[in-house]
This record gives sequence, C-alpha cells and structure tokens, in this order.
Amino acid sequence: MSKKLVLGVGIAFSVLISPFSQVFADDLTGGERKQVDNVAHRGAAGYAPENTIAGFDLAVDMKADYIEIDVQKSKDGELVVIHDTTVDRTTDGTGKVGDLTLKQLKSLDAGSWKDEKFAGEPIPTFEEILDRYYGKVGILIELKAPQLYPGIEEQVAEALKKRNLDKPQNEKIIIQSFNFKSMKKMNKLLPEVPIGVLTSNHTDTTTEALQEFSTYADWFNPNYGNVSKELVNQVHSLDMQIGSWTVRSQEAADLLFEMEVDAIISDYPDYVDPRN
Ligand code: G3P
Ligand code: CA
Repeated sequence: MSKKLVLGVGIAFSVLISPFSQVFADDLTGGERKQVDNVAHRGAAGYAPENTIAGFDLAVDMKADYIEIDVQKSKDGELVVIHDTTVDRTTDGTGKVGDLTLKQLKSLDAGSWKDEKFAGEPIPTFEEILDRYYGKVGILIELKAPQLYPGIEEQVAEALKKRNLDKPQNEKIIIQSFNFKSMKKMNKLLPEVPIGVLTSNHTDTTTEALQEFSTYADWFNPNYGNVSKELVNQVHSLDMQIGSWTVRSQEAADLLFEMEVDAIISDYPDYVDPRN
C-alpha cells in the first residue's frame, strides 16, 4: 500500500473528529494550486555561494518556494549545511567535514571561492537554517552521505520535532536523500513529513523500483536527464510527486515545465519563475 494511502486514512479520521475540521476544509478549497514548485538548489547557487545564508536569503528574495540544503555532521556531532564531504572545494580550509569540529568549521570562509564580495560567509548549522527560514520559505532537506554519520536521522528528526515541524500541513518541509535505507528510516521516525528519494540511475526508474519507493516516499526526484512525460505519469499514478534537478539552463527548465513535473530544482530560480 502506498505511503499516501496509509497516511490519508489516518489524517481523514483525525480531521473528521476535530472541532477545527470546518476551518481546515475551507483552507483546502481556498487559493489556487501552483503548477510547479521553484526550488533554489543549495540556495540560489548560480548567483551566490552554495549552502550559505547569503545564497538562501537571495533565494527568498527571488521568491523561491523552497531552498534546498545539504546536511552533514561535524566531528563533535553538530548538524551543518555543506554539500561536499570535504571542505576543500567551497571553503578556504581542507579536510573532511566529519573530521572537523563545529568551531573549526565555523572559522572557515565559505564565500570567497564564489566571489570576494561574499568573503567571510560561514558554514551554517542546520538549526540556524531552520530558525531563520521556517515559515518563510519551504526547506528541502537533503541528508548528504548519511551512511558517514550514524544517528543523523534521529538528530534531524529531533530538531524538527522541537520546532513542531513534524506534523502534516507543516511549514513546507521535505526530507530527501540518495540513500534509500536512510529515507525508509526517516519515514519511520517522522511518518507525517514528506520523504523524497533522489536518483540518478536509469535502473531506479523501473516500475518495480517506483512501486517500492512509493511505500515510504512522497517524492521521486531524478536527475533531469532521466525525466520523460511517461515517467512523470507513472510517478503520479503511484501517488508520488516528482521534482527534478539540477536545472542550469532556461531550456531545461522549460522542458521540465512542459512535462509537468511538480518541482524544478535549479541553481537559477529566475529560470523557473520569470517574475524575477
Ligand atoms: O536536490 C537535488 C540535488 O541537490 C541532488 O544533487 O549533488 O546537488 O546534492 P546534489
Ligand atoms: Ca543537494
């Protein structure tokens, strides 16, 4: 049975017995449904240093629906937001993220490599990002290489629960990873938070693979080279949504839009939403 169906039955029951059910029902009928979610990949990474407050603030200014962040863990167990498993490419330091303490990570410059005007931008913590952006913009949380960080799922779940972000109708929180085992675990820890599976292999787009993903995931998020209209239809028929990455050209954004994906994950939010 798909995750949506299992959750749907539970939620329908609690809504029926809730005194707020009428208010909730009214909410669902109000407003227009958007055609595609505009997800700013690692912040507006085409314009600002990835996974920094400068990039995420810019994404909010550019009216992105979500920011996408990569979460890992420091040597002393703090959740930090950085893409690579080493700091070498995006900071002035060297070494593995998991071999450096939060203090060491915080002392690094994560902005200059992109442009001198971003000098001094620090690596943010996961909790700093939650506190700064929840309620303001959706957050697509990627657990990056969770196999390197035992217990990262529980720690992310705790941080969300502390802020009451583990409920349905939450502040647009989605958790995704290329590590399927980790996402199955995440779904058990936070059954009401939407889960996404990231894939880049064609072999993960078979009917069998998609059916298996739909038992615990709400989003199927392939790289855009693997997306076809047929795949979009198949994902929708399994009651999942589809978000695709990483869009770095207007042509790719237009193509995905025509194929009616639900989210476009791009370094350039203006390619997805021409209001910018
Ligand atoms: O959100 C999709 C995308 O972030 C996955 O790839 O390597 O940019 O984390 P990557
Ligand atoms: Ca990512």
